[in-house]
Amino acid sequence: MNIGIHDFDVATTHYVLKLDSMAEALGVDPAKYQLGLGQDEFSVPAPDEDVVTMGAHAAKRLLDRNDPSKIRMVLFATETGIDQSKAAGVFVHGLLGLPTAVRTVEFKQACYSGTAALQTAVNHVARYPEDQVLVITSDVARYAVDSGGEPTQGAGAVAMLVAADPNLVVIEPQSGVFTADVNDFWRPNDSSTPFVEGKLSLDAYLDATIGAWDDLAARRDLNVSDIHRFMHHQPFTKMARKAHTKLAEHVGVELGSELIEESMTYNRRIGNSYTASLYFGLAAQLHGNEDLAGKRLGLFSYGSGSVAEFFTVVVQPGYTEHLHPENVAESLDSREEITFEQYRDLHNAYVGESENYETATVTDAPFRFTGVTDRVRQYEAR
Ligand code: CAA
Repeated sequence: MNIGIHDFDVATTHYVLKLDSMAEALGVDPAKYQLGLGQDEFSVPAPDEDVVTMGAHAAKRLLDRNDPSKIRMVLFATETGIDQSKAAGVFVHGLLGLPTAVRTVEFKQACYSGTAALQTAVNHVARYPEDQVLVITSDVARYAVDSGGEPTQGAGAVAMLVAADPNLVVIEPQSGVFTADVNDFWRPNDSSTPFVEGKLSLDAYLDATIGAWDDLAARRDLNVSDIHRFMHHQPFTKMARKAHTKLAEHVGVELGSELIEESMTYNRRIGNSYTASLYFGLAAQLHGNEDLAGKRLGLFSYGSGSVAEFFTVVVQPGYTEHLHPENVAESLDSREEITFEQYRDLHNAYVGESENYETATVTDAPFRFTGVTDRVRQYEAR
């Protein structure tokens, strides 16, 4: 049975910061960000936005053109958890008015967990082919000010509908997986920003690329030449180039940068969206000018700590009729540009505690985080 991504849509934040503004304010050569990291700007949440509002927005766009009554499961993948117990997807389920006969759960393993959710969705549909599964990847990458990670922040959500006989891509059976216990990036329960061993995180990512690839190649007898285009997780787009170069060295085959170029266009502008990053990469690839019908794409999903998966998809005939690049364009182009000082004020004003407060009304999105009452997070649908 063919199972895969039937449809997807996206959302990001109200604000955007150009990295040139950050470079000027911090006295850094702008080329370090543009070329060294491969980033132009990043999305910044307004006080009334979070992973729930972005995830619900992306999912609403998707469900407005699909039949929500077919959804049996909502899988919400994030490393920006808003509660230690309640799944963020339950808030989204309520905001979207989904039926009660739905299983909802949250997935966590750094940036990787969206892929675990996707594969779980595939397995569910393999057993119950008439069901559909809503997978939401949504994250806010928020690092300490003046840390190495500060220019690699960002935020965004990609919602995907997994179904049998999908319109967009079939996820092929057998993937390559990899786990290694590494302390390169972690966020303890009492910290709103992660701790990062920057250089170690690059090495851990590259080790996982090779580990997951070797497992995939062994299980499937697959060669890199069987893959038409590659999408790698993009904490910053230069990292995808490093992974691509490493993979080429490892397999001893020249892999040109044209094999990954298209996948980086959205992430250069969104910044790191953790679980959503790989799927913004897939979106950018599918939205590009090239006709990909019948082509195999290779996706490398990575989450610090570390867990990785290399898997392949085959693009379906007629897929372009089911794409909505206009929603990505609208999400990116409608963001309000802020100055470096405004960005730092927002960063410093972040409330990570659960005391009562109300947020100012800023976002134009269909869902708002309105604040906390009696330690309960409050959302409104407009
Ligand atoms: N012009 C052009 N390029 C320049 C330059 C200039 N003026 N100045 C510096 N550069 C280049 C450097 O040569 C370097 O390129 P290479 O890596 O290709 O050599 C690049 O810009 C970055 O420079 P530095 O290494 O000096 O940058 P840094 O030490 O300030 O920090 C970082 C880089 C460690 C990635 C940091 O941004 C960071 O900690 N980010 C967060 C962690 C992260 O994203 N890790 C990635 C793997 S983990 C993962 O993927 C999971 C996840 O999503 C977090």
